[in-house]
Amino acid sequence: MTRPPTIAFAGASGWLGRFIGPGLLRAGVTDGAHFHALNRSGPSDDYAGWGISWHRALADVPPPDVLVLSVRPADFRAARFHCPDALVISVMAGVLLAELEAHTGSARIIRALPNALVETASSYTPWLASPAVTEEDKALARDVFTGSGTEAEVPDEAALDVLTTLSGAGPAYAALLARALTRAGVEAGLAPELAAGAAENLVCAASAQLAGRIGQAPAVVQSFIDYEGVIAAGLRRMEAEGFDSAVAAGIRAALEKVQEMNRA
Ligand SMILES: NC(=O)c1ccc[n+]([C@@H]2O[C@H](COP(=O)([O-])OP(=O)(O)OC[C@H]3O[C@@H](n4cnc5c(N)ncnc54)[C@H](OP(=O)(O)O)[C@@H]3O)[C@@H](O)[C@H]2O)c1
Repeated sequence: MTRPPTIAFAGASGWLGRFIGPGLLRAGVTDGAHFHALNRSGPSDDYAGWGISWHRALADVPPPDVLVLSVRPADFRAARFHCPDALVISVMAGVLLAELEAHTGSARIIRALPNALVETASSYTPWLASPAVTEEDKALARDVFTGSGTEAEVPDEAALDVLTTLSGAGPAYAALLARALTRAGVEAGLAPELAAGAAENLVCAASAQLAGRIGQAPAVVQSFIDYEGVIAAGLRRMEAEGFDSAVAAGIRAALEKVQEMNRA
């Protein structure tokens, strides 16, 4: 495309949309003149200075090159989003390719699942393309997703379902670990602020140290076990008490929920 693509963004002012929309503008995917925000409540300050336009329905804007769907599934089903010639990028959880194709009339569909780390432009966004999606479409979608973090193409909807239970958690599992560490420190006699400070260091600074080398996580665990010190005793007991199996059971339960949503 020689001109910037025209993007209609449904749900531009929603919790997710207010990060993804400005993110894609900052990334230069298109400019404000070619960005049509769709919602029912009108302009949002999140787009101040971009010169975008606001509309109530897809029918109110010229046929777009790209339609981004970032509305709740029930709102999607209740509205008309017919755009057979557009590339459709959906970030809705639980709305499958077949339904997106039937509802929009487009064969070019990308289903993605950003997470709540879009807030700090750190989402890990897995995505899946329908067979009619072109390489040019995929490049554009990658640019949209990297506007709010990193992305990864997945082979099928089953992989996207599993990732919904993993990366879909955003900060939730790290927060669970931080909460458990803080509670354990307090139970062992620490003042809450001391326990919380230690938990923050363990979750945040330690995560930064693993960035770019996450494949070494098992070796890091093993090196502490091999050292046979204080932390080895802690790690051994955590494993014996079912740390790994509790995580795996949680992922299985979340996957059952995803599959139930897919059937709804
Ligand atoms: N939040 C997350 O962390 C997250 C993560 C992954 C995926 N998702 C998916 O992302 C989608 C949006 O989630 P959200 O948390 O951003 O929800 P949200 O905060 O409720 O935002 C949805 C927005 O859609 C707008 N809307 C509703 N009906 C519309 C219509 N017919 N046309 C245009 N806009 C319409 C609403 O604005 P008005 O009321 O002004 O119309 C609302 O602000 C959901 O499908 C969810 O499954 C969310």
